[in-house]
Amino acid sequence: MADSGTTSAEPQMVDRGLAGLVIAESRLSLVDGTNGRLTYMGYSIADLAEHAEFEEVLYLLWYGKLPTASQLKELKGKLVAARTLSPAVSKVLADLPKTGAPIDAMRAGVTAMAMEDPTWHDLSHDGVLEKSIRLAGAMPSMLANYSRLRDGKQPVDPDPSLNDASNFLYMYHGKRQSETAEKAFNAYLVCLAEHSMNASTFSARVTISAQSDIYAAISSALGTLKGDAHGAANQRSMEMLLEIGSVDNAENYVEESLRIHRRLMGLGHRVYKTRDPRVDRLMGHSEKLAKETGDSTWHDLAHRVEEITSTNPYFIERKIYPNVDFYSGPLLYMLGLKTDVMPGAFAVSRIGGWSASVLEQLEDNRLIRPSAKYVGPESQTYVPNSERQ
Ligand code: CMC
Repeated sequence: MADSGTTSAEPQMVDRGLAGLVIAESRLSLVDGTNGRLTYMGYSIADLAEHAEFEEVLYLLWYGKLPTASQLKELKGKLVAARTLSPAVSKVLADLPKTGAPIDAMRAGVTAMAMEDPTWHDLSHDGVLEKSIRLAGAMPSMLANYSRLRDGKQPVDPDPSLNDASNFLYMYHGKRQSETAEKAFNAYLVCLAEHSMNASTFSARVTISAQSDIYAAISSALGTLKGDAHGAANQRSMEMLLEIGSVDNAENYVEESLRIHRRLMGLGHRVYKTRDPRVDRLMGHSEKLAKETGDSTWHDLAHRVEEITSTNPYFIERKIYPNVDFYSGPLLYMLGLKTDVMPGAFAVSRIGGWSASVLEQLEDNRLIRPSAKYVGPESQTYVPNSERQ
């Protein structure tokens, strides 16, 4: 049967980047790009980032309401149990090349989890939810363990008494971090957990729409998140600050970027045409960390770049503002994360939104299969290889 999606001779509009195309209904988050508003299930990101533990947000996304104390305790128990990686997953992480991107190690770890789960193909709501909890518990351990292994350090066992944010920092550094640091990372995880039909969530939905499995969907999402235009923007924005080096060089760097058409990382957004509401939350924590560490170099530099771009006609005309990854860079850097670990930290949070979106997609699934407008040669005659010139 002809594949009508790619061979239609009818004139078709090409929607590059699918901007503005609505492909699903979702109750998970509202991204209001005009007014700079973000809510998860109706709760403002400002309230959640200020007050909620990341685990409460996971519960909200998975169960549709904030948990009671006992519900939170139960979920935390399951997440804690999932933090300890199986011997097979641990071995995969230990055997990987030490030169790779940590987010790729997470993809390998997620695939190994799939391959040792005999029920990987279970697409029931409860089955996918249980696997989502296990993934959310295990993925931070994968990131922390691989990061340590490649640096020649032994992985550190998780601490069941700590919440997700504190435990990741503990496993990554091998010792507890300050309260300011733990709160900053918790707020980071809350802010990044869900963001409607972003590119990696779309990837997860496409994969599950083909009736694949949750592990494959998360693996697709991790692959997409790795991109510089998406989840690696936190890494690239911090690397940009390191390259600029000092506030005195910021103006030159911005001007030079415009001259050579180099994008400033951590700025611009497909949906937000005003300030991303998560920016102020993360900026506040970045400032607190700068105060606590006594080194405000990177926070001040980010602030200076923001000042310069906010008065430059190029950015004003195109409505380009700092996005969530702009202050994530200095925030995660001051938490001691190496720059290439940063996309993985994004994934530690976004597993919440990805898995909740997979569950939502499965409620009313239809294969996601758009079309392409054929622009290749009209008709050609096959010539055997031996006769081809
Ligand atoms: N620096 C300089 N110019 C920019 C930037 C930037 N960061 N972002 C967009 N532009 C310009 C772009 O050159 C284009 O100009 P013109 O109209 O003259 O050709 C115009 O703005 C529109 O750009 P676009 O690429 O069509 O816009 P988009 O909606 O497809 O791209 C984006 C959105 C996020 C990919 C883009 O703004 C970008 O590359 N930003 C830098 C990377 C980044 O920070 N990504 C994180 C996004 S938010 C978190 C997440 O999703 O992970």
